[in-house]
Amino acid sequence: MTSDLEPIEHASHAELQALQLERLRWSLAHAYENVPHYRAKFDAARVHPSDIKSLADLCRFPFTTKHDLRDTYPFGMFAVPQEKIVRVHASSGTTGKPTVVGYTAKDIDTWATVMARSIRAAGGRRGDIVHVAYGYGLFTGGLGAHYGAEKLGCTVIPMSGGMTERQVQLITDFKPKIIMVTPSYMLAIVEEMQKQGVDPKTCSLKIGIFGAEPWTAAMRAAIESKTSLDAIDIYGLSEIIGPGVAQECIETKDGLTVWEDHFYPEIIDPDTGEVLPEGEQGELVFTSLTKEALPMIRYRTRDLTRLLPPTARSMRRIEKITGRSDDMLIIRGVNLFPTQIEELILKQPELEPHYTLEVTRPVHLDELTVHVEMGSQLANGSQDARHAAAQKLEQAIKAYVGLSASARLASPLAIERSTGKAKRIVDRRAKE
Ligand code: DLL
Repeated sequence: MTSDLEPIEHASHAELQALQLERLRWSLAHAYENVPHYRAKFDAARVHPSDIKSLADLCRFPFTTKHDLRDTYPFGMFAVPQEKIVRVHASSGTTGKPTVVGYTAKDIDTWATVMARSIRAAGGRRGDIVHVAYGYGLFTGGLGAHYGAEKLGCTVIPMSGGMTERQVQLITDFKPKIIMVTPSYMLAIVEEMQKQGVDPKTCSLKIGIFGAEPWTAAMRAAIESKTSLDAIDIYGLSEIIGPGVAQECIETKDGLTVWEDHFYPEIIDPDTGEVLPEGEQGELVFTSLTKEALPMIRYRTRDLTRLLPPTARSMRRIEKITGRSDDMLIIRGVNLFPTQIEELILKQPELEPHYTLEVTRPVHLDELTVHVEMGSQLANGSQDARHAAAQKLEQAIKAYVGLSASARLASPLAIERSTGKAKRIVDRRAKE
């Protein structure tokens, strides 16, 4: 098994740290010398790349946030001349300008390398057929998966998101072993299979590489029970490279190994910015170690998780990310992530994991309504059974989250399916 791996994937801790330190020095110097925005920030914080004597010295450097990218929109953070940029991607962002990221030819190769490594860690091998249903285009999901699968030596089907009927037809005809897609869209594909009379359990798919949005262990169990898939988690973000920053290994399924020979992780207290000891929960921060076009120094991801010791590889892991600070609702003083509701919904087999959370403020107090779909049995069942199911969910939310919410049951297929990242929150407070 280890013979398939790159040497760094089973290197010693000392070897890995030596490589990280050398690369960190390069990355900080590269940012300082080529990006005026970094130079100004480092100077203002009175730090210089030559101050790095050990990896721990990184904590003296200032953070980078989405604001830095917005302030220098579109190309102001690039560290190489524009003619060296071979590709740009952008993430839409809910408000204002998109976040633009750029890649040199070497960056594209680094990305393909970490994605090939990720697909292999998920159980993919040379020769496998890979169906890519992440969106192609400015989003990094489709092309990131595509280049990685090609690099591993797979046969790639560049399907992109949407056209769900067609997805099922091509899966039936081309018989891919691997599907790469958001977990929420996977559910829609499974539904479409059932509609077309294709049994998701006996179809060719064996491995699902799912990410780009938070999903729970309960969702993993739900997808695995409806299909014959091993559902494996993949994490990444455009600013750091795209998908392939961290990947769960199929043999352990115990969190995501961070490819920390390229992306150096820290966990900080989101309020104070202080670096937290390993194992504590906080905000994930990354420093790119090898990226040429867009070096990212201590980039605040807003994703909440903890760092865990290595298991299947030489590198540390992050715990499954179940929320980002942007998605945290504060309702009457109670903090709530959509994934907490997802877990409770999945405990009731008569409900389907299709849901949205609607927040309103009719008078002075916020109100939360959970819209969730009924399974067909419940939909065809008695009014009493429906009432009981809604009440059970409300009681569970009260008991586990500490919040009075109302549960509204929707008919099968009434909740809009995502073809990419699911939109879970409908916040109507601002408008009222
Ligand atoms: O979503 C890159 C990606 C594509 C990752 C395909 C995995 C698969 P962005 O659009 O920049 O990039 O969004 C990044 O999505 O900061 C997280 O909040 C969230 N996210 C990504 N993967 C996961 C995951 C891509 N496995 C943002 N679990 C990140 C939870 C995830 N959240």
